[in-house]
Amino acid sequence: MLASGRGSNLQALMDSVEAGRLDAEIVAVLSDVEQAVALGRARSAGIEARFIEPGPSRSRLSGQAEAAMIAILDRLRVDLVALAGFMRILSPGFVSHFKLRILNIHPSLLPCFPGLHVQKQALDYGVKYSGCTVHFVDEGTDTGPIIIQAAVPVLEEDTEETLSERILVEEHRIYTEAVRLFAEGKLKVEGRRVRVLR
Ligand code: GAR
Repeated sequence: MLASGRGSNLQALMDSVEAGRLDAEIVAVLSDVEQAVALGRARSAGIEARFIEPGPSRSRLSGQAEAAMIAILDRLRVDLVALAGFMRILSPGFVSHFKLRILNIHPSLLPCFPGLHVQKQALDYGVKYSGCTVHFVDEGTDTGPIIIQAAVPVLEEDTEETLSERILVEEHRIYTEAVRLFAEGKLKVEGRRVRVLR
């Protein structure tokens, strides 16, 4: 998994594996942020956790950083790369190396509000519902084929924090579900549409 921050989605997936709700193994957590809480969570669980020096850009990884990540992920023969609060855009080369094997969770009902400060974008726009999306990663930013979405109401008294919390509960639920469907080979991508095989 790739994570940049507090790692609550990582924790949710680790808990799902531990509880037997998800038949998968999390083999490594890589981060572009040395102090990321996500790395500590992984280490506490005995999972390989590595900081990868991201390079000079704030939005992307250097070629060297991506090559280092690819080397680790290939060595571990990962089936899936799950982004959990990973805040950098991956290059087309990285995306094609793991074609249709990278998932991302995003805290809005895409294609509304891609990018950063997502809950603020939703509040500023005045939408009455927001939510979260798990999607395959393609070359664009938050544009890949959608696997699962969950909606939550936006309340009049909401702040960025309260809306984020309400969305996060749903994130944790649908990320486990999406990874489970992937692991069971039940996702069939047809152009932009993802069919869930029953
Ligand atoms: C989550 O809300 C996730 O959807 C969002 O960052 C948060 C990470 O929380 N991701 C993005 O905005 C990606 N563009 P976490 O570190 O506790 O999982």
